[in-house]
Amino acid sequence: MASVRVDQKRKALVRRVPESFTNALAYYFGSGPTDVEVARAQHQAYIAALEANGVQVHALEADDRHPDCIFVEDQAVVIDGKMLLPHPGHPSRVAEQPPIAEFLMSELEGVQTCRMGGEARMDGGDIIRLGDLFFVGRSSRTNDLGIASLRSLLEDFGHELRVIDIPSHALHLTSISSTPTDSTILVPEGYLSPEAFGELPSGCELLWMPEEEAYGCNTIGLPNGKVLVAKGYPTVHATLRARGLELVEVEMSEIRAADGSLTCCSIFY
Ligand code: GLY
Repeated sequence: MASVRVDQKRKALVRRVPESFTNALAYYFGSGPTDVEVARAQHQAYIAALEANGVQVHALEADDRHPDCIFVEDQAVVIDGKMLLPHPGHPSRVAEQPPIAEFLMSELEGVQTCRMGGEARMDGGDIIRLGDLFFVGRSSRTNDLGIASLRSLLEDFGHELRVIDIPSHALHLTSISSTPTDSTILVPEGYLSPEAFGELPSGCELLWMPEEEAYGCNTIGLPNGKVLVAKGYPTVHATLRARGLELVEVEMSEIRAADGSLTCCSIFY
């Protein structure tokens, strides 16, 4: 999840790959996964990479009724000790939420939890955080009522929220951007205008990557200062290395086939 600062990423929730994974939604980067065992091996390597770099991981069992259940990021938003349970934007994904919510409520004992009601819709994958500045994608999954619900949570903290319109050829804001550090945003050409993020706080930078490396712009800044990246995106890797960042690479091909990126597979809390 992209709603916690890098230094807050001590624990992560993930969910195992279901037998039904080949039926996962795939309309953007992916043409549909074909090999559940390969997806499981890649997912296990992802978990191992988090654990090897300072993150304590809890894995929920898969649910075969929900082909997209590994993409937990969309199901809960944890911000500075409060939790928003969004109404997910795709009807097939709504029933994935209860075990995730139950686990987080027991882990974060007494956490103040807001549930999105009415027609509000949001996927957690539409949120990124740059220090205490938040961005949300208005997308096919996240509507204005969902954004209003997030805004009201952030107002309690005094955090600013900026809205970015996601073009129809992208799923989520996190599908095309991430904050590998608390002062850096990666974003590909060909999706958003140069003004989309507005003026960034002093010391922060927007790094534009080639359009063909859009998938590689989704990264996870780890609590030990390294950055988890998908294998195969040389410009993204070179740009981060040039900033002195050490990379941890994982193969994501079979998860990408289901339109899933690195951040989609975890909720940090
Ligand atoms: N396959 C991930 C999603 O569409 O939500």
